[in-house]
Amino acid sequence: MSDEPKRLAADHAVRMVAHNQIVGLGTGSTTRFAIEGLGRLLRDGLQIRGVATSVATSKMAADLGIPLLDLNDIERIDITIDGADEIDEKFNMIKGGGGALTREKLVALSSVRRVIIVDETKLVARLGSTRVLPVEVLPFSWARSVRLLKELGGNAQLRRDGDAPFLTDNGNYILDCRFDPIEDPPMLERQIKLLPGVVESGLFISIADTVVVGFENRVEVRERK
Ligand code: 5RP
Repeated sequence: MSDEPKRLAADHAVRMVAHNQIVGLGTGSTTRFAIEGLGRLLRDGLQIRGVATSVATSKMAADLGIPLLDLNDIERIDITIDGADEIDEKFNMIKGGGGALTREKLVALSSVRRVIIVDETKLVARLGSTRVLPVEVLPFSWARSVRLLKELGGNAQLRRDGDAPFLTDNGNYILDCRFDPIEDPPMLERQIKLLPGVVESGLFISIADTVVVGFENRVEVRERK
């Protein structure tokens, strides 16, 4: 599949950003197109400031001249544009393929409007049917987290980066959990959040407001009911 669906979804989403807004900037290959689009709008005179969800996004935004804010210095973000690994009909999502789930969730929860940009391969009937669920955990007790996640029905694997464990921007590990698929996403989200040693789960429940789905030559915009 070409990158055109991602680009079309991203270009559509950036047009939802208004002058002087604070924009949450997601992470991933789809969001890259949105950040590039915002860079172009900035050159055309749109004034915005961004809040980045990862070190990689921070760097990209800075290179494009997008002024960045620290989440601690603001009370709210006007609009966030981010991608997803999977999204179901209720707009529940799996995120964290790029390992940025914790900052992505914090930025999304600080935002008035959350716009998710995906191509059609991300649309699923049941979460967990095509992708694993990333869970960010403390390195100190990661093996215990594997056992606790197993009790919830997840087969967790430590994400690696070559020979070493993959490290998040927060200095933590990611456990990629296969659930085959997830029966009840809101319930699983609550159960995972209660496990000691878990920093954040990649289940995003009731967070997406608007989903822009990109196809080869069109987009479809869906609003949460
Ligand atoms: C990163 C994410 C991304 O939004 C998700 O992985 C989708 O990425 P891509 O647009 O590259 O498919 O959650 O942590």
